[in-house]
Amino acid sequence: MTLQAPFPWFGGKRKVAAEVWSRFGDVRNYVEPFFGSGAVLLGRPRFSGNETINDIDGFVANFWRSMKLSPDETAEHADNPVNENDLHARHSWLLTQRDALRPNLEGDPEWYDPKIAGWWVWGISCWIGRGFCSGSGPWQVVDRQLVHLGNNGQGVSRQRVHLGDNGQGEPQARLIPWFRALADRLARVRVCSGDWSRVCGPSVTFKHGLTGVFLDPPYADTADRTSDLYREDSESCAHAVRAWAIENGSNPLLRIALCGYEGEHDMPESWAVHLWSAGEGFGSQADERSNNGKRERIWFSPACQSQRQASLFRVSA
Ligand SMILES: C[S@@+](CC[C@H](N)C(=O)[O-])C[C@H]1O[C@@H](n2cnc3c(N)ncnc32)[C@H](O)[C@@H]1O
Repeated sequence: MTLQAPFPWFGGKRKVAAEVWSRFGDVRNYVEPFFGSGAVLLGRPRFSGNETINDIDGFVANFWRSMKLSPDETAEHADNPVNENDLHARHSWLLTQRDALRPNLEGDPEWYDPKIAGWWVWGISCWIGRGFCSGSGPWQVVDRQLVHLGNNGQGVSRQRVHLGDNGQGEPQARLIPWFRALADRLARVRVCSGDWSRVCGPSVTFKHGLTGVFLDPPYADTADRTSDLYREDSESCAHAVRAWAIENGSNPLLRIALCGYEGEHDMPESWAVHLWSAGEGFGSQADERSNNGKRERIWFSPACQSQRQASLFRVSA
């Protein structure tokens, strides 16, 4: 089974996972600080050694922890047919859980909530475009009723559920083998939730030997892009990430990949650049894709494998 995340994520890198691995090769240690839907880790052809993933969004981090520790229970909560009323009610309930997520995840390494994970993954799969669980809409639950409270940006947005080809909802019987396969893949992966910089120090990276670091931050303000693409969005984070990448780019034990749009990062000449195009987006993300989808770039640090080594790796993988 080719492993794939069970939810759509704007900026997912499934299309380029093979290219990244052919440039990284068989690294002993792998770090993915902006995990999202984890397309690159899940697309790794063979693996050993340490792997560490991280995302600052508590819903994402809780989902992957629940998936790893309790795939069947997560699947049970994710099993629901597409239903517009359920979507609004669950969306509102999820927002009431949001503030406690990070403290719980950070306070107890074994804490996870499979109901939040299951409802979140079901909801984000029925939702179209950006804004799920952003807490920036005008609707809130008062006395167990969803009411419009004006545009004070503290509640949920309402929109019709996804009724396209993917909008049926997955039954538990199909989810369980899929979630168990993901749990197997994640069994030895270390899951973190916080700022990217916490997993980029020497003790997490090159102290373990040759390390691949896949950096896929939210696009920067210089990238001429739509705002609020993620619940945890930032148009300045990518600048700090680029500075870290350049500062560490000459370390022979670090194979670094930095993602962005054409013109977003001015990298040293010793870095190689790979040009690619993303697929289409849906709803409010469709414009972003048609404006910028063809400007996708990945910059690879000098210690990454050359194109020749990369094609040999692809053949053997
Ligand atoms: C471009 S997406 C990553 C997509 C991912 N490569 C995939 O294939 O799905 C960027 C991710 O960075 C996360 N993020 C935003 N700011 C962050 C920060 N300061 N530290 C860690 N993660 C952050 C977002 O929650 C989002 O999941």
